[in-house]
Amino acid sequence: MGQGLFVTFEGIDGSGKSTQAGLLVEHLKSAGLDVLRTREPGGSPGAEEIRSLVLEGEPDRWSAETEILLFTAARRDHLEKTINPALAAGKVVICDRFADSTRVYQGITRGDLRPMVDQLHTLMIGREPDLTFIIDMDPGTGLNRALSRQTSEERFEGFGEEMQRKMRTGFLELANEFSDRCVVVDGNRDIQSVADEVAALALARLA
Ligand code: ADP
Ligand code: TYD
Repeated sequence: MGQGLFVTFEGIDGSGKSTQAGLLVEHLKSAGLDVLRTREPGGSPGAEEIRSLVLEGEPDRWSAETEILLFTAARRDHLEKTINPALAAGKVVICDRFADSTRVYQGITRGDLRPMVDQLHTLMIGREPDLTFIIDMDPGTGLNRALSRQTSEERFEGFGEEMQRKMRTGFLELANEFSDRCVVVDGNRDIQSVADEVAALALARLA
């Protein structure tokens, strides 16, 4: 039983987070590590149910405040049921999105709700990742990639390019704010180049 390592991927929709999370999982597994891949919103049965509530339906289905509660409730369940047990068992946990997404999406897209996000985070989550990859991506390219997916989970994808631009800036600001754990990776390259850089940074952190 060790301490484990908690790694997250963040960035705008379509920036390549899922692709890179999957490749890092394979890389670390082939290096002999015990790895758990998970995602938010979701990652536990209860949180996956909340995922459908927040990602499907009309854009105005929930207010920003209600969304903060729902995402935080999902995160709390995910932590209790999936992340904390895996870390306690010494695993490397690779998670597609975590609290930084709430800080950006709910914190800045509809007014300045960051103080509310932070208060609830302190009260209910109280944990940051050990290492966060922020995949930086041209907002237009990211949006086109995200929109080309056929999915019912599209509540946030109607935001448009201007909002993607604002969120990109938000993620880059978070990288400065949490510079001890965040690394910005240029996602405007071929998949393997990005994956090579991510793997090298993760292995260096594990060493
Ligand atoms: P995210 O999880 O950030 O929304 P995905 O990993 O699902 O992004 O990638 C969105 C789409 O873009 C997918 O179809 C994926 O295959 C493609 N993609 C991901 N990274 C790259 C890249 N570096 N170059 C070109 N296409 C990419
Ligand atoms: P995800 O499935 O990672 O979408 P994508 O692959 O397009 O990046 O996440 C779904 C959406 O949920 C995404 O638009 C961002 C949003 N989201 C929030 O608004 N707040 C949150 O706290 C999280 C975790 C996700």
